[in-house]
Amino acid sequence: MLTNFNSSMMQAVQLQQRMKSVARLVLICAFLSTAVHANEGGYEKANNDVSNKASLQRGARNFVNYCSGCHSAKYVRFNRLAVDLDLTDAQVTQNLIFNGGKITDTMTNNMSEADAAAWFGKAPPDLSLIARARGTDYLYAFLKSFYLDPSRPTGMNNTVLASAAMPNVLWELQGIQKAVYEGESSADGKSVEKHFKGFELVTKGKLTPEEYNEFVRDTVNFLDYIGEPKQLERRGLGFRVVGFLLVLFLLAYALKQEYWKDIK
Ligand code: HEC
Repeated sequence: MLTNFNSSMMQAVQLQQRMKSVARLVLICAFLSTAVHANEGGYEKANNDVSNKASLQRGARNFVNYCSGCHSAKYVRFNRLAVDLDLTDAQVTQNLIFNGGKITDTMTNNMSEADAAAWFGKAPPDLSLIARARGTDYLYAFLKSFYLDPSRPTGMNNTVLASAAMPNVLWELQGIQKAVYEGESSADGKSVEKHFKGFELVTKGKLTPEEYNEFVRDTVNFLDYIGEPKQLERRGLGFRVVGFLLVLFLLAYALKQEYWKDIK
């Protein structure tokens, strides 16, 4: 009797300890995931807003004018843009379709991957899902971080994607910048460590730095939107579902009170 009691006590204690270590593990995982999240590359925030239709329209214009020559967005159909961006089919055909394509086409281009790889050394990736693959902050930083580097075939390099095969296609708008480093002598005074300090505009562009930031933000916003065109609807639905569950909870609770009111 007593041994039985003892062994079941032992089991209970063991179970409790196991539960504790599981709880600890869950806590550690939660902490790690927030730590990783907080340090997502440490880029400046893109602060784009996919519910801003005007920004998405500008982003679509930027994309077809400056990116679609090399990059496709083959999972996006033009008529979907018309619906989501509050544009008429005629507006889309006039302003966003250049190669005589139809409104029902996807956003592909005529560059073959083999040609592109031969020209640039690397084929430009399809950008339909790039915002989900890299994150919007990364894209925002990438498009702002081309700098002069005569050692590269394009004459330009990028601090976010070192030795990027992509030419600096936005240089006319942004201007040309150089990377500034500051040297720091090591304790023995022999070697000098270089740290990236920031960019300095060498040639002015057509846009002011603020206007250029907005240009890039709109473009990134568009890439964010095409990565998941339904995201606004999904978030809206989430709130409605949670609201519904709350109301249901109140009703269920009231019903439970009613059923159990005579049972003590
Ligand atoms: C002249 C051709 C060309 C144009 C125009 C161009 N790109 Fe690229 N892009 C490339 C190539 C080539 C690569 C592959 C770079 C690499 O992996 O080194 C690339 C890569 C990228 C990447 C992926 C970077 C990564 O981390 O792998 C992004 C994002 C991108 N381009 C965005 C854009 C946007 C936005 C525009 C329009 C503003 C644009 N590109 C215009 C050629 C181009």
